[in-house]
Amino acid sequence: MQVTLTINGEERSADVEPRTLLVHFIRDDLDLTGTHWGCDTSNCGACVVLVDGVPVKSCTMLAATAAGHEIGTVEGLEQDGVLDPIQQGFIDQHGLQCGFCTPGMLITARALLDANPNPTDAEIREAISGQICRCTGYTNIVKAVRWAADHATAATPGS
Ligand code: FES
Ligand code: FES
Repeated sequence: MQVTLTINGEERSADVEPRTLLVHFIRDDLDLTGTHWGCDTSNCGACVVLVDGVPVKSCTMLAATAAGHEIGTVEGLEQDGVLDPIQQGFIDQHGLQCGFCTPGMLITARALLDANPNPTDAEIREAISGQICRCTGYTNIVKAVRWAADHATAATPGS
């Protein structure tokens, strides 16, 4: 079946099997490999993308279900060579080590700051509670999101 959606502001299409998950559609058919696939159990959160501005685990959604919707991925965060504050925050505050969880963390944090530009640390921890990081212990991730909140906001990818 033909699936057409908008991703990071660009309309894209591909011919896929109806059972294709959104995460595989994004990575394998659209060649946007910034979105990671970390489990088969909907637990890790590495695959989180924005669907109409809402963070969604893209391994839990069929590509066909996403047809016609606006998808935002980590590739859409940087604009014209300028990093999104959330990306800069992860750099400045050492919010990553191996980086595997980072795309999902960045997208979830971006959605949080779009909805709540000045979250408490507890609200940050609640927002990322669906994501697993095996490296950082989360402390520097929370600091990174705090840094981004303190250094302005940027447009949601795909908007
Ligand atoms: Fe782990 Fe989607 S790949 S939650
Ligand atoms: Fe390695 Fe999070 S930085 S899993």
